[in-house]
Amino acid sequence: MKALSVSDILDGKKILLIIGGGIAAYKCLDLIRRLKERGVEIQAILTKGGAEFVTPLSVSSLTENKVYQDLFSLTDEAEMGHIRLSRENDLILVAPASADLMAKMATGITDNLATTTLLATNKPVMIAPTMNSQMWGNKATQHNLSVLKTRGILVIPPADGDLACGEVGTGRLAEVADMITGIEAFFLSSSDSSLLGRKITVTAGPTFEAIDPVRYIANHSSGKQGYAIANALRQMGADVTLISGPTNLKTPTGVNSINIRSAREMMNEVEKSLPSDALICVAAVADWYVKDVAKEKIKKQDGKIPTLNFAENPDILKTISNHKTKRPRLVIGFAAETHKVSEYAKNKLKNKGCDWIVANDISGDVMGGDNNQVYLIRAESMESWPKMSKDHVAQKLALEIEDYFKEFK
Ligand code: CTP
Repeated sequence: MKALSVSDILDGKKILLIIGGGIAAYKCLDLIRRLKERGVEIQAILTKGGAEFVTPLSVSSLTENKVYQDLFSLTDEAEMGHIRLSRENDLILVAPASADLMAKMATGITDNLATTTLLATNKPVMIAPTMNSQMWGNKATQHNLSVLKTRGILVIPPADGDLACGEVGTGRLAEVADMITGIEAFFLSSSDSSLLGRKITVTAGPTFEAIDPVRYIANHSSGKQGYAIANALRQMGADVTLISGPTNLKTPTGVNSINIRSAREMMNEVEKSLPSDALICVAAVADWYVKDVAKEKIKKQDGKIPTLNFAENPDILKTISNHKTKRPRLVIGFAAETHKVSEYAKNKLKNKGCDWIVANDISGDVMGGDNNQVYLIRAESMESWPKMSKDHVAQKLALEIEDYFKEFK
């Protein structure tokens, strides 16, 4: 099994971790360990709220550095210690970012060391919010969030699930692995990513195959995984065209989106998007379309059941994988399986002629859900990834693609 080779992007980086108040502050201790394993040097500011949940001793033991807590107790404040702290790191990460901290950042309040440092910095800032789901959904928090985003603050979004307050909803601090992937993606995008300017086409969502003017045949694909992949690739500098069937999702910022309905329209748009460096077929394309679509709505006729005649849709992945002149250098397909996942996926790799297959086990709540458990299959290897969020799968896959294109820089 191939070891992931992307984690060395963090080696030698300096991160200032601001630990806000919140029960999830305990996750920061593990985050510090995982970052240290990857060669990151960490300084930490522990806010008053943060110190209610983790001790300065545990933070300093793990970071192997002094922990800063109070604006006026910095021994070297005469040398403007908060300015120095805010400038000498490559990234400032606020985790957990409480509603209060986000509000203070949005309005520029500087009433403690953390907020003063955040106002004084000229370095990139990333926040990992966590709070009760009502607080997260509150217009005040959402407004603050959009203010912070427009100022270029990077956000590792909170996850859905059980909250410490006993409620269920959005507001859990992202898992440590998700935070690490977000940090890796940030450093990759701001470095010499091999994806900078590469043209990548992504298909996503379901296709709708018309029966008559009001009816169609579709499937349960939400498009979430494809959109997340388009977003992750864009964040790493790629020039992404997302060709999508009907979904309820917002086009990720900076992604060129083309909306289609049927498989044949999708095929057409994919061909138009070529030449491109990579094609990632995430869409759940219908295998058949209805021949002779009725021009008018088919009416009920006294128990007479209409018969639909089908014809086969073009197989986009297979066609482009076997294209004589315009085959992208890297072609990736998805395989949705309910059983014998890896065996069927390996066969699919051969049949379709693509380079990699991401096989997902759809026996659970994958279609429409937020999590995914996948295998990454190449001709010579197979990796099994643990169950993780679709955003995390997207970032990991984008990191693998970035790794692949390094050779062709
Ligand atoms: N695909 C495509 N065009 C099609 C059908 C599928 O591009 N007409 C792509 C999908 O986007 C996905 C992969 O092919 O990347 C899935 O292959 P498919 O043969 O549809 O497999 P499954 O849907 O998994 O179905 P089955 O196991 O029944 O073959």
